[in-house]
Amino acid sequence: MRIAMIGSGYVGLVSGACFAQFGHDIVCVDKDADKVARLRKGEIPIYEPGLDKLVADNARAGRLSFDTGLADAVGNADAVFIAVGTPTRRGDGHADLSYVYAAAAEIAEAIRGYTVVVTKSTVPVGTGREVARIIREARPTNNFDVASNPEFLREGAAIEDFMKPDRVVIGVESQRARDVMAAVYRPLNLIQTPMVFTNIETAEVTKYAGNAFLATKITFINEIADLCEKVGADVHDVARGIGLDGRIGRKFLHPGPGFGGSCFPKDTLALAYTAREVNAPQTIVEQVIEVNNARKKRMARKVIDFCGGSVAGITIAVLGLTFKPNTDDMRDAPSLDIVPALQAAGATIVAFDPEGMKEAARMLPGVAFAGTAYEAASGADLLVVITEWHEFRGLDPRRIKELMRQPRIVDLRNIFNPDEMRDLGFAYEGIGRPRPRT
Ligand code: UDX
Repeated sequence: MRIAMIGSGYVGLVSGACFAQFGHDIVCVDKDADKVARLRKGEIPIYEPGLDKLVADNARAGRLSFDTGLADAVGNADAVFIAVGTPTRRGDGHADLSYVYAAAAEIAEAIRGYTVVVTKSTVPVGTGREVARIIREARPTNNFDVASNPEFLREGAAIEDFMKPDRVVIGVESQRARDVMAAVYRPLNLIQTPMVFTNIETAEVTKYAGNAFLATKITFINEIADLCEKVGADVHDVARGIGLDGRIGRKFLHPGPGFGGSCFPKDTLALAYTAREVNAPQTIVEQVIEVNNARKKRMARKVIDFCGGSVAGITIAVLGLTFKPNTDDMRDAPSLDIVPALQAAGATIVAFDPEGMKEAARMLPGVAFAGTAYEAASGADLLVVITEWHEFRGLDPRRIKELMRQPRIVDLRNIFNPDEMRDLGFAYEGIGRPRPRT
């Protein structure tokens, strides 16, 4: 199959490289000439494990190329995927669709033979139909169908999620478009990936419902963690105890400082907005948004309370700034609430993050950055874990204790064992775990 991928950001680049790995011919298009020039040289603008090799291998094999204009790519394609950004529109939480509609207008001018135009960007219900209208009105002779094929990629595990998905959801409304989409994903038949073929609106709702449900699950366990702290229960045992019930499932029950990232905050807001517009308010999702925002703000208070009510004048080592491990993405990261609040309360922050410090330096003024976790801990009065990078789990607590001015840890991701840390002489607090009885 020949595929044009419009937009070479996170979703476009991962999808393009993975489709090429399936054996299809892919042209990834991006308006940013500098980005395209870098991609042609094999430089990957984002951090995603394994992506550089996948891009290099497939470019070398001649299946993956990059272009700044879409005319040739679209003209030759069996399927065109729209994977441009849909940021949250300022002020009202609605997804900004201007890039999607601009792409549709350009695609309309470039279509030659029968083409399936697929939205892969996360778009509110009704967008697929609007894309179809734009393409038809621009050139009524175009021979095309639209389809919706939402992505479910997790940053840091995106290639695995693409190559071995739990399912593929495809909204189509003609047999011909269905056949094209089935051919695009045929390589997944080998691993018996379930294909959910449905109408376009259903595919669009499925994406939002999936992310909103996961965000709800996280928020639910976070509130249960608060309860556990008050009554002396352990949230991890609770999560295991409920998660073993197959109807609930064990995943996404890890408590923390609140969810962030490029998807959950944006998609929950967009879903709530769309639902209100059609008078079907999603009150649970609205609560999730509110509870999560409040939680991120409250985490600094938790740290300050742990220090006896004040962090004025102390140095705090912060480990992890990105919204989760294995990414350099800082979007809506809890650290963006926690760090400034601790600074405002008078603390000096020395931070370390394996990939996120370049981005963080822009977003967190006044923070000093260390070259390693140990360097951050040196001379600190308190250590706060905000992101659970794998390498932090292997840190030697004895060495950390020797380096710190005061051995105190607030572990917002529960990466350390509380009993072990207390036995070593740390004052330690995690999330939703019983405090030692005094
Ligand atoms: C998510 C979805 O998982 C993916 O399917 C979708 O298409 C895009 O959004 P992503 O944002 O990359 O992916 O990260 P994910 O691993 O889902 O984590 C999102 C946030 O939830 C992070 O801030 C993470 O720390 C938090 N989280 C996740 C928890 O706090 N606890 C958990 O148990 C799981």
